[in-house]
Amino acid sequence: MALSREAQELLVRVGPGTAMGALMRRYWVPILLGTELPEPDGPQVRVRILGEDLLAFRDTDGRIGLIDQFCAHRGVSLFFGRNEECGIRCPYHGWKFDLTGQCVDMPSEPAESNFKAKVKLTAYPCIEAGGLVWTYMGPPELQPPPPNFDWLRVPPENIFWTKREQESNWLQAVEGALDSSHVGVLHRYELDHDRLHQDAEGPKFIKADTRPIFFTAPTPFGTAIGARRNGDRDDRWYWRMTPFIMPFHQMVPPYGDNPTGGHSFVPIDDENVFSYSFYWHPTKPIDDELRESMEHGQGIHSVNIPGTFKPVANKSNDYMIDRKAQKERRTFSGVAGIAQQDAACQESMGAIQDRSRERLGTSDAGIIAARERLLQAAIALRDHGTTPPALNPEDQHVRSASVLLDKDVPFDQAVREAMIPGAGTPLISV
Ligand code: FES
Ligand SMILES: [Fe+2]
Repeated sequence: MALSREAQELLVRVGPGTAMGALMRRYWVPILLGTELPEPDGPQVRVRILGEDLLAFRDTDGRIGLIDQFCAHRGVSLFFGRNEECGIRCPYHGWKFDLTGQCVDMPSEPAESNFKAKVKLTAYPCIEAGGLVWTYMGPPELQPPPPNFDWLRVPPENIFWTKREQESNWLQAVEGALDSSHVGVLHRYELDHDRLHQDAEGPKFIKADTRPIFFTAPTPFGTAIGARRNGDRDDRWYWRMTPFIMPFHQMVPPYGDNPTGGHSFVPIDDENVFSYSFYWHPTKPIDDELRESMEHGQGIHSVNIPGTFKPVANKSNDYMIDRKAQKERRTFSGVAGIAQQDAACQESMGAIQDRSRERLGTSDAGIIAARERLLQAAIALRDHGTTPPALNPEDQHVRSASVLLDKDVPFDQAVREAMIPGAGTPLISV
């Protein structure tokens, strides 16, 4: 059934004062790769997140601040200011702000004035975890413990990150990641050639059975989604198990012993989203050869225009579609690369897909369940102040899985056994 206009609006809008925006502001959210703020007093960075224009900087003591981008005096962008001596100094009249947003110097006012004590910019606390910078934009008294996802707890050599900007609402990106049924179609040929899919049995089952049956279950972390396909024997199914972790994280089911992927889809505003895309391995480092292949766009990574997070193949050049490759079935869509294939599909829906016109089928069950989870959490928070799911670090301990199981194993048992393993153990993967 198509979504009502009211439900759609509630799902997609994330700016200040919206219900979904309030829900997202109860979580720690990624704002930057750690490499974007490499050193104390280095260049500050503009951050647009959840419709707010902010400025991130690493101060003289190495701490990260996130403050309003615009000077409290007369609105100059502090991007053009000086990052010095534990604060950002506006270039116009020299007002200076520390990482709490407090104005600490006002050289344009009389020396005896205490006006500066009364001037404070919006500021949000920041932490570093797993190679990313995170912020918390909600009520200070409700700040949750730092994020503790399994992929954030491995040594830095076990994880590889990229970041790309997508010109669509955040939910279109999340839904794509929860939708296993498109993998055997859109990414069909990458299952054969992509470096991250080698030496695994899974691609064979995905390609052989393009009609997966979906199972879903609400869980403490969000929603467990299982896509069931024919397995290797008459008495076994092949399951791809995807956790949707509230409010916008997803883990791709693994392929053999390759590092496995995941995404955090962080809304820039209602019409743009950053995909923080990673591959991680719970027990071993990612070697240099594999890192290099990911830098060149293998797996779910994109190759960006230097100095930006905009992919080289993007909407303005039709994602460099190659009709010959499409005809010859070297790629299914003619677009090269998993990330750009997803972006082409999801951006082509329009910045905010009109979901009142969609016609959902049985293979959309995962998406439907995730929408319901999000809607319920946002409404419960708005109407009753109910604490959202997945804020407790213990509830964040979950993994994707790719597994052959006897046909008599029910979905909820598969979730318990395959998706919630002991820390530091290998992924369950074929
Ligand atoms: S506008 Fe920033 S100090 Fe005047
Ligand atoms: Fe995809």
